Amino acid sequence: MSDKYQSFTQSPIGKLLVKNLGLPAPMKLDRYVAGAPLVDGTVVTGGTGRLAESLPGLLDLLGISSTDVATDGEKYKGLVFDATGLTGAADLVALRNFFTPLLRSLKKCPRVVVLGTPPELVEGSERVAQRALEGFTRSLGKELGKGGTVQLVYVAKGAEAAVTSTLGFLLSPKSAYVSGQVVRIGATGSTKAAEVADWTQPLAGKVALVTGASRGIGEQIARVLHRDGATVVGVDVPQAASELQALMKELDGDWLTLDITAKDAPQRIAHHLKEKHGGVDAVVHNAGITRDKKLANMGEDRWDSVIAVNLTAPEKITRELLAQKVINKGGSIIGVASIAGIAGNVGQTNYAASKAGVIGFVDSLKDELKDGITINAVAPGFIITQMTAAVPFATREVGQRLNAMSQGGLPVDVAETISWYASPGSTAVNGNVVRVCGQMMLGA
Ligand SMILES: NC(=O)c1ccc[n+]([C@@H]2O[C@H](COP(=O)([O-])OP(=O)(O)OC[C@H]3O[C@@H](n4cnc5c(N)ncnc54)[C@H](O)[C@@H]3O)[C@@H](O)[C@H]2O)c1
Repeated sequence: MSDKYQSFTQSPIGKLLVKNLGLPAPMKLDRYVAGAPLVDGTVVTGGTGRLAESLPGLLDLLGISSTDVATDGEKYKGLVFDATGLTGAADLVALRNFFTPLLRSLKKCPRVVVLGTPPELVEGSERVAQRALEGFTRSLGKELGKGGTVQLVYVAKGAEAAVTSTLGFLLSPKSAYVSGQVVRIGATGSTKAAEVADWTQPLAGKVALVTGASRGIGEQIARVLHRDGATVVGVDVPQAASELQALMKELDGDWLTLDITAKDAPQRIAHHLKEKHGGVDAVVHNAGITRDKKLANMGEDRWDSVIAVNLTAPEKITRELLAQKVINKGGSIIGVASIAGIAGNVGQTNYAASKAGVIGFVDSLKDELKDGITINAVAPGFIITQMTAAVPFATREVGQRLNAMSQGGLPVDVAETISWYASPGSTAVNGNVVRVCGQMMLGA
């Protein structure tokens, strides 16, 4: 399922047309290759806040080289600015002073991260300055070009040492299709990150449940979690049993064929995880369906089935696993929402309600969870899968181009985001909804 327009823009005639007609020119994005260095180049650090001093050490842990003095003529792969020291509107000029001279010295697919303090945790002028960072980063994301990404990471006081896994994700090609996002670390739940013995296999010894694992995004989630060291337990409907088994055998994993909406599904999943694996560390609610129709024509079955698969089942399964204490300490629960749940979409009142409900579920549990268990969600935008291949050509073209990257994302982009949430290094990453949408122009 390739992007034919993107291939065309890279041909000689395509390049000519793009230049002369001002058409979008989607850049081939860097994606992570196992075994390659996390960041292919040097990162420039700046700013004078709570994190500035510890930043070089944290990056070093990940094998990322950094400098706080940029050299003329040198090209850089990333910029990290500690803005936690900005306490009023007048201080914001520090952003211009740091970024403006550096923006022409960036390599292809550069990464920009601004670190701030969650505005809701500070008062007065400091809150004003910290909130301003959001407009700054979202705009820079739309300006950067070259397949670059820009994110804002709000770090609560006391959570400074817990940012390593997030920096590793946001500075590397693992976050190829994530841009213009705001992440909170330590704002609810734990401010501490668990030890990660080996950053190339952060999930070693962990067990991950992935629903809808036989194909599409779920298959990639299973592959990436396995690459990162986890034993994957894949779940899918009986009709997908042979694909599911083949994949799980390839990944040395385990499987369970059931319909997640079945009455006994939560108990069966809990029993299986307890008996065969002694518990679970990451629960990924990926299985999902669409049954599109405008609300005026929406039959009861379309409404009920979408709500049941996408929302009620993840909620019931999570509650059962928590009640039976099947989720291990420091474990993670991860929902798969959708940009449709944020921006809305014609013909998708049922789907968008279910996906916005997933965001509500994250919100409702984030302050309640015990034992360092976290809950977060991804909200994919236009991801190239069998599902989107079926979308009519014109709609698909518009859907793919209306983002800062002018292209659709790949299932692996969603999977990498999920693996970052699942990392033991992310135990202070709680209550977030990160869009994997290439910074789509639609919605908030
Ligand atoms: N593809 C996109 O652009 C996109 C965008 C936003 C969100 N999403 C979400 O990402 C997730 C995966 O999407 P995809 O594109 O890979 O879809 P897909 O249809 O290719 O895969 C979904 C998988 O879930 C399984 N499944 C469906 N109902 C089930 C049930 N009752 N019990 C167990 N398994 C069940 C299916 O058999 C299938 O293997 C879904 O939650 C979807 O809503 C996708």
